[in-house]
Amino acid sequence: MAAAYGGVTPLDRFHSEATVDPALAAQSRLNPDVELELRAAPGTASIVPGAATRVWSYSGHVIKGPPTALQAIPGSYVGPILRFQTGQRVRIHFRNELPEETIIHWHGLDVPAQMDGHPHLAIASGTTYVYEFTIVNRPGTYWYHPHPHERVGPQVNRGLTGVILVSDAAESALKLPSGNDEIVGVIQDRQFDAGNQFVYVSGMSMDRMSGFLGDRILVNGRPSARMSLATRAYRLRLMNGSNSRVYKLAWSDNTPMIVLGTDGGLLERPVVRNYVTLAPAERIDMLLDLSQRLVGSRLVLRSLAFPSRLFEMEMGMGRGRGRGRGMTGSRTLSNGAPFDILAIDVARRERSPFVLPSRLSTYDGAWQPPASVQTRVVRLDFRMMQFLLNGRRFDLTDVAPDETVQAGSTHVWEFDNSGPAMMNMRLGHPMHLHGRQFRILSRQVEPARLGDWNGLRDGFVDEGWKDTVLVTPGEKVRILVRFSKYPGLYLYHCHNLEHEDAGMMRNYRIV
Ligand code: C2O
Ligand code: CU
Ligand code: CU
Repeated sequence: MAAAYGGVTPLDRFHSEATVDPALAAQSRLNPDVELELRAAPGTASIVPGAATRVWSYSGHVIKGPPTALQAIPGSYVGPILRFQTGQRVRIHFRNELPEETIIHWHGLDVPAQMDGHPHLAIASGTTYVYEFTIVNRPGTYWYHPHPHERVGPQVNRGLTGVILVSDAAESALKLPSGNDEIVGVIQDRQFDAGNQFVYVSGMSMDRMSGFLGDRILVNGRPSARMSLATRAYRLRLMNGSNSRVYKLAWSDNTPMIVLGTDGGLLERPVVRNYVTLAPAERIDMLLDLSQRLVGSRLVLRSLAFPSRLFEMEMGMGRGRGRGRGMTGSRTLSNGAPFDILAIDVARRERSPFVLPSRLSTYDGAWQPPASVQTRVVRLDFRMMQFLLNGRRFDLTDVAPDETVQAGSTHVWEFDNSGPAMMNMRLGHPMHLHGRQFRILSRQVEPARLGDWNGLRDGFVDEGWKDTVLVTPGEKVRILVRFSKYPGLYLYHCHNLEHEDAGMMRNYRIV
């Protein structure tokens, strides 16, 4: 299945992982419906005025299948949008033209373990990995990014990110705004040096416990983003592609946000929020109805203020107190500072009647854990200056007995970010499970942390399928998950990329 050209095959290096489901092997001999080439390579992008910025980015083309399967974002370092249909068989030839190892992970997709981009599958510079999988996910907004051992943060920060849109006939029948009326936005923060180059410092230190924070907010790789739109309805799919920054998204005139979907696709029915909390790796699908707006008016997508201590060290060190960023010496926006993200100018009058369907999908929000199910607690620990999961740090191949699950079995996991911690250091962690969408069953927060929690809670959209859930300080979040039918090694981790690279990640094995 996986093959490498001009190098060692990843499967040769890890014989123990080369467990191929015979049914899948047979399927892979079938012709793919979509075949793509994707590459990761160094390049340049004009982002801020003046010198071009050196970036790493994904690019590619369609070998077979609909030309719409791959849509580049012109001039941007953000990778092409990949469009698939549920049920399609996909083959992707991924070529690594970076000066170091990498591998692609398809965030949110349920794929066989060898196709999931686990760091032990990373390929050397100059080699190719062939992915083959069937799209079994429901329609939704997914994404792809690198996953090499301890290098996710720097590689994403250099520009390696892209969106995957999955659709099917039932979704198309809803006639949600599409084509030019569908807007995909990857929100990221970056820091630039005086020569317009990205600044990123690897590794953990006291003043970088919160992870990387940039002071420029980009949408699809553009600062001060703005769009000219017409008086019609738009579908807005937003992804938080930031290493560590959390957004509290709201419209500048307090128009409520009409939410259509979450990480794993459409909700059963639209829901309304005054603001939406979007942690790293989370996606939100929204309706933006400009039909009643005046031509010439402007609407701004903003991030509202929230307490920085949810995500940053207090103690008077680091940011937010007029101090520099230590190693880099430049100031930056705190994780909780307010700012504008995207300005929308209503530029044209166009009549296009759009009626939002009251029912969007058959998501079963009533799915409950079977009576026999036991809850597995995953403690989010901070010890010896390290973030850990149940006291354990990431090891490439280590799997504990409590991290082994049966294929297709249903579990309740509880992410526990409460209780005492070293130096009272509890930060929010966006917890992510590879290979599966889950349902959020409950959140419970310590009374002492309730005040801060209230600053973000109304923006949680827990009604839909999720693959990443923000667990704030003092919180216990229970999720219900049915594990994939594909056996093998998968990951669960904090999606704050600096926490992840520092070891706040573990394997789980499906048997
Ligand atoms: Cu976006 Cu290991 O994940
Ligand atoms: Cu993932
Ligand atoms: Cu974390």
